[in-house]
Amino acid sequence: MKRIIVAIDGHSSCGKSTLAKALAKTLHYAYLDTGAMYRAVTLYFLEQQLDYNDPEQVARGLAEIEIHFERIEGQNRTFLNGRDVEHEIREMRVSEHVSPVSTISAVRRAMVAQQQAMGKRRGIVADGRDIGTVVFPDAELKIFLTADPDVRTSRRHLELAAKGIDAEWNDIYKNLLERDHIDSTRADSPLKKADDAVVIDNTLLSEEQQLEKALVLAKEKMV
Ligand code: DC
Repeated sequence: MKRIIVAIDGHSSCGKSTLAKALAKTLHYAYLDTGAMYRAVTLYFLEQQLDYNDPEQVARGLAEIEIHFERIEGQNRTFLNGRDVEHEIREMRVSEHVSPVSTISAVRRAMVAQQQAMGKRRGIVADGRDIGTVVFPDAELKIFLTADPDVRTSRRHLELAAKGIDAEWNDIYKNLLERDHIDSTRADSPLKKADDAVVIDNTLLSEEQQLEKALVLAKEKMV
């Protein structure tokens, strides 16, 4: 069977990573969480107190950053300069700054180059905002995932609680809508459905049902 690239784009917290991970596991493909990379950059700027509105400080920060992924006990972990930051990058302080940071073209150029290198051998499922449009425009399967904002907020709330991260439902809701707005209206690589992407609205779908749909689509492209 042909090794393909699956690109999954969509709004914040609509289950992209859940679907991408499940699909990668089933197909024995690598999973690439591009949002984690933008989150790691944001965490670095916050920790080093770098002003991301200053291009010189952004360039300095980017030159100092090394991001990679490791699989530890079956879990994907994001490493920033050799440190496991998987937990910290999901905190609200990072979520509040990640969309503005990801509007910066220098940041996007650096991340996209790394993502494209990771996809060279295909056999990868990547999720994000610009995967089907910019990172892998030649992906064999492109999925644009979406869901009702209330449902997305509740899922995010549960997910954070399961990780021991305490956040108010209303704060999560506001953050989601704000990120959707910034991500969809930015000048560089805005979130938009690629012309050849298949839309899946998972508001009323279980995780198994959305995986089932995606698998059917993937298998069609793998022959
Ligand atoms: O998928 P996520 O919520 O972890 O992504 C965090 C932020 O990173 C999101 O608000 C927008 C940005 N992002 C991006 O601009 N491009 C991507 N390919 C992935 C994420």
